[in-house]
Amino acid sequence: MRAIISSIKNKTKEIFKNKIARTLFYRDVLRYNFPNLLKSSVPISSEAEKCLSEFRKNGYITFIHKFEELADYIDKEYFIKYEQNQLDENLFKQKRIIDLNARDGDKYRRTGLETSLYISYRDPMFEQLLCNKDLASLLYNYFKRQPYYRNPVHLTKDSFSREIIGRTSSKYHLDGGFHQLTIILSVNDTEENDTHTKYASGSHKKYRYKSVADRDSISESWVEQNWPITRIVGKKGSVHVFDAGNGFHKLSEQLNSTRKLFFINVTCGSHIQLAVNDKLEDIAYLKDKPLLIQNMFKKVCA
Ligand SMILES: [Fe+2]
Repeated sequence: MRAIISSIKNKTKEIFKNKIARTLFYRDVLRYNFPNLLKSSVPISSEAEKCLSEFRKNGYITFIHKFEELADYIDKEYFIKYEQNQLDENLFKQKRIIDLNARDGDKYRRTGLETSLYISYRDPMFEQLLCNKDLASLLYNYFKRQPYYRNPVHLTKDSFSREIIGRTSSKYHLDGGFHQLTIILSVNDTEENDTHTKYASGSHKKYRYKSVADRDSISESWVEQNWPITRIVGKKGSVHVFDAGNGFHKLSEQLNSTRKLFFINVTCGSHIQLAVNDKLEDIAYLKDKPLLIQNMFKKVCA
């Protein structure tokens, strides 16, 4: 009898390992998306709760808090210093800043991405945004489980002074299979006639857990006829969150316009791209934070 039970157990394990665990459905839907049945929500302020219901409805929100001081700081300490070659060289040596254009032969600059830097989580100024309780609870309750920062903090400056081709994000797409949310902090003011991201409000509901592999199969007019389009613009310091994994979005490039962003993606733990030289114990501002917030850094700063 024991031998039969053990054989059934082994067979089940084998089927799980070889058949189920390898499927996209398990990897993208079950493993990283199934709600935490024991804790599907955390306490949330009434202001953030209102913001959450709008987020659920549209797949996009402008966050309730603004961070002008942080935007000014990022502009001065990173973007401007980078342009003036004044960033501390040690930060590059220690891989606490990675210049993606220098690393990849200017390939981003050729598509209008003038500046593209990965920067360390350690900067204490980031605490106010990355450890914001309203933001953390909003993300948790949207996913109905623990959210995790997915990749290094990314600073980008788009500057289109001529017609640009070849940016894959210029076509409507889903960040397919990632089930990820994107958080962007506007570092400079942008209006509708500046370079911005367009988001098809409500499309995240129809495309939940689906991916569209071929971006060329999605026409701009089809998206814009089917969903109201939100233009993600705002004053410096404004924070925008959108469901990039499930909702259609695209870059709308405008000539002679500059957009500077601090951005970061959040998933339920999938597709983690390690912050190269940050370990959890290096992030001093995390020490007194609640578990929900510490956990958000746990995978990317492993
Ligand atoms: Fe995208």
